[in-house]
Amino acid sequence: MRASDAFDEWAADGRDKGMEQRHWHTAKHALGRMPIEDGDTVLDLGCGSGYAARAMVAAGGAGRAYGLDGSPEMAHNAREYTDDPRVGFVVGDFEALPFPADNIDHVFSMEAFYYAGDPMAALSELRRVLRPGGTFYCAVDFYADNPHTAEWTDYVELPMTRWSREEYRTRFREAGLHVAEQEAIPDEETAIPPAESFPTEDWDDRESMVEHYREYGTLLTVGVSP
Ligand SMILES: C[S@@+](CC[C@H](N)C(=O)[O-])C[C@H]1O[C@@H](n2cnc3c(N)ncnc32)[C@H](O)[C@@H]1O
Repeated sequence: MRASDAFDEWAADGRDKGMEQRHWHTAKHALGRMPIEDGDTVLDLGCGSGYAARAMVAAGGAGRAYGLDGSPEMAHNAREYTDDPRVGFVVGDFEALPFPADNIDHVFSMEAFYYAGDPMAALSELRRVLRPGGTFYCAVDFYADNPHTAEWTDYVELPMTRWSREEYRTRFREAGLHVAEQEAIPDEETAIPPAESFPTEDWDDRESMVEHYREYGTLLTVGVSP
């Protein structure tokens, strides 16, 4: 199945909003660190419901935010969730961004980059559209250092790139981006039930669940365009 078809299904059955709620726990901390200046043009790569594009304008001060998604249903839903003319949504692919060179001040992406069919081509596209000094805030829960996400490949039937923390830095550098920051942002909000509730449907024991959310959380890697 193509990623866009799979995510069209997700959007149609409301999983775009479900993701927004879960991802917001850590995404808001990544968004809050972005050095957006008033009037900047920003892009949310793999925008899903479009919450990040909305937040970068409403709270971050961006003058124009684009959300890009390969799934027409996701982009359609995202459009419905805002009437702010400064926020726009486009259907497109990470490997062929529909923007001219040196056009975007900052790019955010949450739980999406690792679906890129060719992640190096996606990084090269990002470099092309970013202005010198522009940043890429790349947030992922699915990364090789977190053993609790390894089995995701069993139930998401799409190719996914499972880089480690170190590989994210290495690949960013290979694509010509400086690495300004890398950090795991813990999810302090997902409720973790008491020990006697385990095993649950998703977790064998409480320690694993604590480790997944409170220690590994979301890996944020920040690249800066030279
Ligand atoms: C797991 S969802 C995350 C959505 C949103 N960022 C969030 O935090 O809830 C990943 C999104 O990336 C999009 N996507 C995946 N691969 C893509 C690609 N190569 N080009 C464009 N969009 C892509 C999917 O359609 C999907 O909406």
